[in-house]
Amino acid sequence: MRIGIIGTGRVGTSLSKGWSAAGHEIQVAGRSTTPSVPEVADWAEVIVLAVPYSALHTVVSQIDPAAGKTVIDCTNPIQMGPDGMGLAVGHVTSGAEELQHSLPDAHVVKSLNQVGAEVMADTGGFAHSPVQFLAGDDPSVKQTVTRLLLDLGFDPQDAGGLAKARLLEPFALVWINQAIAQKKGRDWAFGAMPRIGT
Ligand SMILES: NC(=O)c1ccc[n+]([C@@H]2O[C@H](COP(=O)([O-])OP(=O)(O)OC[C@H]3O[C@@H](n4cnc5c(N)ncnc54)[C@H](OP(=O)(O)O)[C@@H]3O)[C@@H](O)[C@H]2O)c1
Repeated sequence: MRIGIIGTGRVGTSLSKGWSAAGHEIQVAGRSTTPSVPEVADWAEVIVLAVPYSALHTVVSQIDPAAGKTVIDCTNPIQMGPDGMGLAVGHVTSGAEELQHSLPDAHVVKSLNQVGAEVMADTGGFAHSPVQFLAGDDPSVKQTVTRLLLDLGFDPQDAGGLAKARLLEPFALVWINQAIAQKKGRDWAFGAMPRIGT
């Protein structure tokens, strides 16, 4: 599959390595790269947005996904408030839903926002495959994203329609809070563990 990653940082680099190893064709674009953001977005079958939330508007204005193209939204709408790190949107909408409004012809799926980039780079060595929820409105698009998550070694879990990004974006803050404030570090992941024998 042709995967175009927008963002050359920690998440973009981790996903690029993992999907390359799984045999996918990858192009990555940043602010001043060749190929450029519009070129990579045009080339890709699946576009992955791995930029700061504050850059999303600029990036979206540069891409014109053909009708039905899949867009995976890895961003977290994080901002600092009086009580520390929080979300810029939530409860009645989400970053992913706002993105879908900006790209009405695309199929936005929220995923790969819930653990650190180190886990995305290497899902090996855990007692259970790290869970990765995905939220999106089109079942066949979610099947594609599910396969891409499996290729990275995740345990994909369907969270429902795109509005469930309202759950997945604050969920990311649970990981961040544990990693930083609770000093757990970055080398851990969530697992979804059914009880054996049920
Ligand atoms: N880091 C994590 O562990 C993690 C985990 C889950 C989700 N996320 C989310 O994933 C997103 C990316 O995080 P990250 O840690 O990978 O960030 P990062 O390391 O800071 O990288 C961000 C990338 O976005 C690029 N960028 C910024 N503005 C751009 C623009 N207008 N056009 C094109 N590229 C632009 C930057 O390019 P330049 O080099 O030119 O600045 C850089 O390559 C964020 O929304 C974050 O909340 C991060």
